[in-house]
Amino acid sequence: KKVVLAYSGGLDTSIIIPWLKETYGYEVIAMSADLGQGEELAPLQEKAIKSGASKLYIEDLREEFLTDFVFPTLKAGAVYEGSYLLGTSFARPLIARRLVEIAEKEGAVAIAHGATGKGNDQVRFELSVKALNPDLEIIAPWRLWNLKSREDCIDYAQARGIPVPVTKDRPYSMDRNLWHLSHEGGDLENPWNEPKRDLYLLGVSPEDAPDEPTYLELGFEQGAPTSLNGEKIAPVALLETLNQLGGKNGIGIVDMVENRLVGMKSRGVYETPGGTILYMAHQALERLTLDRLTLHYKEQIALKYAELVYDGVWYSPLREALDAFVNVTQKNATGTVRVKLYKGNCTLAGVKSPYSLYNEAFATFGEDGVYDQKDAGGFINLFGLPLKVRALMEKESGLR
Ligand code: ARG
Ligand code: SIN
Repeated sequence: KKVVLAYSGGLDTSIIIPWLKETYGYEVIAMSADLGQGEELAPLQEKAIKSGASKLYIEDLREEFLTDFVFPTLKAGAVYEGSYLLGTSFARPLIARRLVEIAEKEGAVAIAHGATGKGNDQVRFELSVKALNPDLEIIAPWRLWNLKSREDCIDYAQARGIPVPVTKDRPYSMDRNLWHLSHEGGDLENPWNEPKRDLYLLGVSPEDAPDEPTYLELGFEQGAPTSLNGEKIAPVALLETLNQLGGKNGIGIVDMVENRLVGMKSRGVYETPGGTILYMAHQALERLTLDRLTLHYKEQIALKYAELVYDGVWYSPLREALDAFVNVTQKNATGTVRVKLYKGNCTLAGVKSPYSLYNEAFATFGEDGVYDQKDAGGFINLFGLPLKVRALMEKESGLR
């Protein structure tokens, strides 16, 4: 029997290979996904085999990640607890989808992952697998074995001749892809500790950013970013460029205590340079193209969407239904946004759309032909009627 393992080449997922073989007697097929984490994956081929896998699939999922998961979430304007742009959350259902596809192709009976029993990722992987193929067994070694520490893992690896990474490990638990980089653990576990200035890997701290601003122009078509500075650009290249420009200007650093789905609070520091620029620009464009009622309703949808992505319920009828709503709101989200990056700030420097509902001729304080100021008197009388009726009642009944 076979099991397909989400494999990163790190210590944890390396020892999961012999552990699966010894514990279940399964043949282990490994899968490493390229989500733009900036690591060479080719060397993992040999490493996975040396660790006892019978095969390694290396899957380039970068474009799918952006078009199928990131951009829908951007269009929805989903932000978790006011700050987190969900960079790890929406990567999990994609990795799970590919694990399931490989399992089906290989005739495997199980899926395994290296997420711990205390986090969100286990939930996201497993809900996705359940939704996509209910027959697959799910194995989460961190919830089962009695290895407790990094030292335990190293001993376990060395006893089996598994190559232990000699790289000087940072003390943080990190997750990186084309959208973001997360840092948790180490000295960050105390929320009173400010992140060290050299923590950042995608960019710099705002005080280390240049004294000159960077301007850029983003083009959107129906809510999706499609051009940069007037040139068409593919999603992967766009994020690479925006991360570079945003990173060097100290854009998109978030430091927060968040509520995990599994009950505890945790402290994380996120770097989302390109994503922060895209969210800001997309929102500026929508402010031109969406009417008031729809914009306000969409704010409610965004909250629900964020919670659903965070909770790992991607493959659900609710997400599909919310996407249908969001897609209608994006029909006119086409236009150009000019953005200024400066020392950690990403500010609007101009926005235009052929479908703009903003009309200078109507907004002007000068003379115009659609808005008759006399109409406002009647409008205010009716809109304010309940307030007036209540005040009259209070007066008459002696309440005031
Ligand atoms: N707290 C974030 C989330 O739940 C980031 C998780 C990072 N995951 C990791 N395996 N390092 O989405
Ligand atoms: C983990 O526990 O594996 C990482 C953190 C998380 O999933 O929230």
